[in-house]
Amino acid sequence: MKYSVSVFGLGFVGITTALAFAEKNHTVYGFDVDTKRTSLLKAGQLPFLEQGLDQALVRHINNKFMITDNAEDAVKNSDFVFLCVGTPSGERGEADLSYIFSAIEKFASVLHDGKHRVIVIKSTVPPSTTSERVIPHLKKMGLSPGDMFSVANNPEFLREGKCWDDAMHADRIVCGVEDRKGEDMLRSLYSDFDAPFFNVSLNTGEYIKYLSNTLLATMISYSNEMSKIADVIGDIQIKEAFEILHMDRRWGGSNMASYVFPGCGYGGYCLPKDTQAMYAASVSKGYEPMILKDVITINESMPQFMANKVMHVVNPSETLGILGLSFKPGSDDVRDSSSAKIIKLLLAAGYRNFIAYDPVANEAFDGQYHFSELEYCESLQSICEKSDALVLITAWQEFAGIDKKYPDKPFIDCRYFL
Ligand SMILES: NC(=O)c1ccc[n+]([C@@H]2O[C@H](COP(=O)([O-])OP(=O)(O)OC[C@H]3O[C@@H](n4cnc5c(N)ncnc54)[C@H](O)[C@@H]3O)[C@@H](O)[C@H]2O)c1
Repeated sequence: MKYSVSVFGLGFVGITTALAFAEKNHTVYGFDVDTKRTSLLKAGQLPFLEQGLDQALVRHINNKFMITDNAEDAVKNSDFVFLCVGTPSGERGEADLSYIFSAIEKFASVLHDGKHRVIVIKSTVPPSTTSERVIPHLKKMGLSPGDMFSVANNPEFLREGKCWDDAMHADRIVCGVEDRKGEDMLRSLYSDFDAPFFNVSLNTGEYIKYLSNTLLATMISYSNEMSKIADVIGDIQIKEAFEILHMDRRWGGSNMASYVFPGCGYGGYCLPKDTQAMYAASVSKGYEPMILKDVITINESMPQFMANKVMHVVNPSETLGILGLSFKPGSDDVRDSSSAKIIKLLLAAGYRNFIAYDPVANEAFDGQYHFSELEYCESLQSICEKSDALVLITAWQEFAGIDKKYPDKPFIDCRYFL
């Protein structure tokens, strides 16, 4: 069965979701409030770097995937409405749901027309959001799920840098949905994807996503805590120690082991905000999760820990070369980038001479952070030649072995990569 699907919010998750359904021959309408972004998409250009997704966009734009400025028309024609808008951190770390509510307002009036649709929250939202916040919000607008529409959640597990592959070869599809019609329609929509489909309660669907992201954050903070212990004890080869840990056959060669490795803390759009949101959600229900509290505290301490290492080796009048600006290799996403945090701390400590190089993220970083003290280099060679010391913050493969090429320059390796 082929469906019509509307996707609200055309970021990493929304574009990937839209194109994955287009690839399976469903008709997809995409809507975003950011008109600069929609103009780029209409012209077949991705607003960020993402291998495979770029070609899928060219294949489907203005064909199976239509960008629309009219949210109501898109929903009128659709069987499914996927909400993929951002859910950033609120003031107390809670998930800010305002983008979800504002997206719903854009199409709510259409839901009275007698056609049964499934509204699917794909954005990451803490457990009980669909049941205690979204459904009551709809009811206040005179819209009760049932004959008119179903409400479900469908957490997304893709990794930035591998969005297309992860979407086309998902290892599991989780749908929190509690009515038969909604479940049947979602099963049918996903039947073309070769992945096990799990139908769970609304709260469980949301919870599974946080199980995943808080575990990843915990593994990273555990590793960083262990690296700090190794540092105070001294004479411990931290990188080798973790690599030998990974040889334990119980990992089964799993890529999960890569999260059990020290660095300068987790960043990017998801792990920081999702760990905070799970902590805040649990506190609001009366239980303070101590492990998550420590995971967050350790993570927040890591930029200072690394800035201190720099300060031990380099003096403020010297020129510091920052290697890597994106939050991880393979991506030009600079949201919650460790490089920005470390630069800010060094600026506060009186360092003034910075140059930076990232294979793909110089422009995005400049656009987001506007450090007037920072100059950008176009090549690895030029940054190495111009710097008195180098700080490696993103473990791009291009940087492997660079310390051997410049044996006289100090390298502060925040990722235990060299
Ligand atoms: N990025 C990831 O790796 C990833 C992975 C899994 C889940 N998620 C979750 O998916 C959600 C989206 O993440 P993302 O990285 O794609 O975000 P993003 O910031 O890249 O994209 C969000 C988009 O929503 C748009 N938007 C905001 N309000 C809107 C509205 N009212 N109507 C239509 N569009 C609107 C924004 O303009 C933006 O283009 C978040 O909840 C995130 O936690 C992200």
